[in-house]
Amino acid sequence: MIRFLVCFLCFLLTASGKSIQRNELLDEENPEFWRSQAQATLNSALRRKLNTNVAKNIVLFLGDGMGITTITAARILKGQLEQRPGEETIMTMDTFPYVGLAKVYTVDFQIPDSGATGTAYLCGVKTNLNIVGLSAAARNGVCRSQTGNEVTSILKWAKDAGKSVGIVTTTRVQHATPAASYAHSSSRKWYSDADMPAAAKRDGCTDIASQLISNTDIDVIIGGGRKYMTPKDTVDPEYPTDLKSAGMREDKRNLVNEWINMKEGKVVRYVWNKTEFDAVDAKTTDYLMALFEPGDLRFEVERDPLMDPSIIEMTEKAIRILQKNPRGFFLLVEGGRIDQGHHASRASMALHETVALDNAVARALELTNEEETLTVVTADHSHSLSFNGYPFRGNSILGKSPVYGTDMLPYTTLMYGNGPGYKIINNKRPDIRKVDTKSKDYVQLAAVPLDSETHGGEDVAVLARGPMAHLFQGINEQNYIAHAMAYAACVGTNQNHCYTVQSSALNMH
Ligand SMILES: *[C@@H]1O[C@H](CO)[C@@H](O)[C@H](O)[C@H]1NC(C)=O
Ligand SMILES: [Zn+2]
Repeated sequence: MIRFLVCFLCFLLTASGKSIQRNELLDEENPEFWRSQAQATLNSALRRKLNTNVAKNIVLFLGDGMGITTITAARILKGQLEQRPGEETIMTMDTFPYVGLAKVYTVDFQIPDSGATGTAYLCGVKTNLNIVGLSAAARNGVCRSQTGNEVTSILKWAKDAGKSVGIVTTTRVQHATPAASYAHSSSRKWYSDADMPAAAKRDGCTDIASQLISNTDIDVIIGGGRKYMTPKDTVDPEYPTDLKSAGMREDKRNLVNEWINMKEGKVVRYVWNKTEFDAVDAKTTDYLMALFEPGDLRFEVERDPLMDPSIIEMTEKAIRILQKNPRGFFLLVEGGRIDQGHHASRASMALHETVALDNAVARALELTNEEETLTVVTADHSHSLSFNGYPFRGNSILGKSPVYGTDMLPYTTLMYGNGPGYKIINNKRPDIRKVDTKSKDYVQLAAVPLDSETHGGEDVAVLARGPMAHLFQGINEQNYIAHAMAYAACVGTNQNHCYTVQSSALNMH
């Protein structure tokens, strides 16, 4: 009882001053506010018409590690960045009319990684942890298990159907998510030949960077990952004195130059900085490779806007180049560092990355037409992030619960099940009363110590808009996504419906 009273006192003390001004929410005290808002939602649901067009274009936005908790928290952050309470914010992805859930387990693991999940939602086949572009008959890291077990992705199916194709990511372009769209590798970590064990090379397996230029003919490649493309010790143009940024390839190949030479007769651009990127004329460019960092790009809030474009600018450039093809395009856009923010348990980073991804979705919707473009937003897997406590309305999403723990210490409303944020000293949690938990570098508390916080295993959301978006409803296996997208666009093997459906896009075939 005493404990309860003390805590109630802390509650009142913290509450005064920190809660948002009541008058900001006066409308919400009027029941008519909620009734008319719900009626408007109802009307728009009743007016919704099935869009059974053939999708000329597909844009797939993948938030790496963007679980539903991350979506909710990012939504609140987005509103709070605009000085609103935040909870009522409508992100662009929130406006998608159809939502389903995807089950993310792999054939061998309950909680997945980005390689196996990428293989599921891009190639349509579930596989084993750590594998990209191979079925579950292949074994993690075993080169000899690859032959005959290759599975192709919707990126290839779209290219084979005459569409233009592209990948945009905030990580290195050889990272698991983009790799699953073009590579076949029993290890997602074989970025360059220097990352491969000698036995795998001897057995004839090739690294992911070399597959980037030799498998599907990709029109637009934007992200990071220069060092995997150039010979060992090639000085990096941006960080000439940093050895870790230098080229890595032991086979001495320069994949950028090889790629340029392969596209003879076409307008081909390779750029590594923002000035050159901005100068790329989408109207005349056939092929673009843009690699802005030796490895992954910087977090959005730490990005140098003079050197690297944002995910919004990268998405726009990709769409403008790809949409010149009258047969349409497939574009994969990955917000790849949401995941890395979570692994470091820097929730601020993960949420700002998610807001940036949502802004990229908004830009894509502006540049495309819902009648002919299927846009899907999903995640590969979740994280151990939890959103808890009883914060007041408008409490900073990076802030603290007004009610303290029974140890008489406050806690942040975002925390992790495990990770680097475990800090129990002398049986006590750290006292964060004077700590600025909104700092971009703040590491949220974790219950179990780990150097890197882990993924989470619950279902992820699948949001869809445009032709056949209604196929993305219900709770389905994650590999269904590739099949539904292919059906919508009439690419891949299931095309029986493609010659009976009325569609403007069909006239192009
Ligand atoms: C951008 O790249 C071009 C081509 O390599 C180079 O000439 C230019 O100096 C670079 N700009 C910056 C700001 O580094
Ligand atoms: Zn991860």
